Amino acid sequence: MDERAIRICARGVRKSFRDRKGEVRVLDGIDLEVRDGEFVAIVGPSGCGKTTLLNCLAGFERIDGGTIEVDGEPVRSPSPRRVLVFQESAIFPWLNVAENIAFGVSSATPPEQIRRTVQRYVDLVGLRGFEHVYPNQLSGGMKQRVEYARALAVEPDVLYLDEPFGALDALTRLEMRREIVKIWQQTRKTCVLVTHDVEEACELADRIAVMTRCPATFVDVVVNPLPHPRDPDGSELRLLRKRLFAALGVERRV
Ligand SMILES: Nc1ncnc2c1ncn2[C@@H]1O[C@H](COP(=O)(O)OP(=O)(O)OP(=O)(O)O)[C@@H](O)[C@H]1O
Ligand SMILES: [Mg+2]
Repeated sequence: MDERAIRICARGVRKSFRDRKGEVRVLDGIDLEVRDGEFVAIVGPSGCGKTTLLNCLAGFERIDGGTIEVDGEPVRSPSPRRVLVFQESAIFPWLNVAENIAFGVSSATPPEQIRRTVQRYVDLVGLRGFEHVYPNQLSGGMKQRVEYARALAVEPDVLYLDEPFGALDALTRLEMRREIVKIWQQTRKTCVLVTHDVEEACELADRIAVMTRCPATFVDVVVNPLPHPRDPDGSELRLLRKRLFAALGVERRV
């Protein structure tokens, strides 16, 4: 029995969009509970509604039905307590690394405290020495690190991650996965990651929910109790991947 408090609670979430042909139902009754400090991944095929679900959870999109609560409070609008890291890098090219990281920190915070916060997260993501460098001089992986440091610097309770490694090459992806585990172990933030990469979900998450094509629901939720660092070639992860691919309706040797 997991004793941790329930942080995010979504019940029967429905969401449609109107397009030229009429109304398109994207989310069709999503139920999700995420406990404090848990790392949950949501996997699903491209276009199934993963980004839409995160936008709803984060308060950027209104829902048509159901409820979403964080710490018992209904989610109606975005909040600095919940930060979304996007599919594409969203750091500002005209600000250097330190300025990007400080961007979301309240301007009411004393400058010395901002400086300490920036340094803490610069160190956490391994960018010491790059504080005054501009994004055009950074690699894709380094930009992603700035993105995390910026998200963490506002000290949110919940981190929503939308395919955060999507724009990275395969090697950097592997490296960034390890980084995320390290960051998560050190900060114990509640994390919800959406991805279409089953391997990524298995390496990172405590629990993995599988979404159907849209209109999307969850077809399976798999618990992943393996300790970190996880061996992607180990028999437990192979079995887990097999179950997830089966839930996604994909035949694959794993
Ligand atoms: N603002 C919008 N207006 C109309 N339709 C939208 C809007 N946003 C998303 N959709 C539609 O909702 C569906 C789900 O989109 P969404 O971006 O959530 O999928 P996704 O699972 O994140 O896809 P991907 O894996 O490619 O990132 C798609 O059919 C998309 O066309
Ligand atoms: Mg998406």
